[in-house]
Amino acid sequence: MALSGARAGCYSRRMRAYLKAVLWAYRLILGREPTEEEVQAHLGYPKLSDLRRAFFSCPEFRQRERYLCGPSLTGFEPALLIEDAVEDATLEKLLELTRLSWEHLGEHEPHWSVLSADEFKQANLDAHRERFYASGQHSAEQFLNLLRRNGCLPEKLSDKRIIEYGCGVGRVTHALAQRFGEVRAYDISAPHLELARQFAASLGLDNIRFAQIKRPQDVTQLPQADAVYTTIVLQHNPPPVIRFILKALLDALAPSGVACFQLLTYQQGYAFSAEAYLRASPEQGRRVVEMHVLPQRRVFEIIAQSGCRVLETLDDALADYRGGDLSNTFLVQKQPAPD
Ligand SMILES: C[S@@+](CC[C@H](N)C(=O)[O-])C[C@H]1O[C@@H](n2cnc3c(N)ncnc32)[C@H](O)[C@@H]1O
Repeated sequence: MALSGARAGCYSRRMRAYLKAVLWAYRLILGREPTEEEVQAHLGYPKLSDLRRAFFSCPEFRQRERYLCGPSLTGFEPALLIEDAVEDATLEKLLELTRLSWEHLGEHEPHWSVLSADEFKQANLDAHRERFYASGQHSAEQFLNLLRRNGCLPEKLSDKRIIEYGCGVGRVTHALAQRFGEVRAYDISAPHLELARQFAASLGLDNIRFAQIKRPQDVTQLPQADAVYTTIVLQHNPPPVIRFILKALLDALAPSGVACFQLLTYQQGYAFSAEAYLRASPEQGRRVVEMHVLPQRRVFEIIAQSGCRVLETLDDALADYRGGDLSNTFLVQKQPAPD
């Protein structure tokens, strides 16, 4: 929006300065040009300090610059109504819908479905592929640092097996394979897995075994592993599925093994009922990236039931940031083998 010309000319000098302030607030704080209606809507603030407060507290800014907004929860939020235990047949249906959605995403925008930025859409990927996979090195390093600072990074990783659950197109898988002796990489989507395989082969990595998760039984038959890693995966599954997978992943840990997993543990207004969800789901899956929640107290229950203890819980920036959302990365360790 331009300030010069006839329209700006009809304002007083003071008002023109104010108009400029609004325009630059949009540019600097929200990172975009405003529409004329938006500028008009901001002209009623009596003082610049009111204007500033309005910008810094608006949902658009909070979503865009989550880091600057302080804690996302106040502690006064209500409990969420979440159904997280269902019969086996329902669990199977929920997992199947998740598979259909992710396979659709995998066939159309596999890299963007992993990191939803425009540069990772298929049309732009060639110029940005390197950066996409470099971000996986960063995730692997962060994981190792969590282990290091909690005193549980093994001296030698080359004889350790890690499960990566929900490996996607192999963004982190390759980085794990360069550090661990063996990687077992699982995903629910065949198109994602195929791209992950191709990328690993292009690097000559031969210590990764990829496998597709097609039904709940596949999750309960995971091999024993020294470490488990899963990020930006569980949050895309309905709560009963999150609960089921998390239990299976922690059960797969060897004595003293460590698991690092991320999930969304609170979202203002979120609720889940399996019956309502299935009733509203088209047969071919929803074909969108869904976000689901499992509250911390449930996560802590599963950790205890699996014979693990929490080493660290981080607030992270991995879910789409909004005030009222809480995403956590947990680092847990299985109890040691009895003497
Ligand atoms: C946002 S991507 C993240 C991929 C990878 N973890 C990363 O950080 O690059 C989510 C991946 O999880 C997979 N996924 C979602 N639900 C799953 C499930 N229940 N079991 C296995 N994989 C799942 C999807 O197919 C997709 O490849």
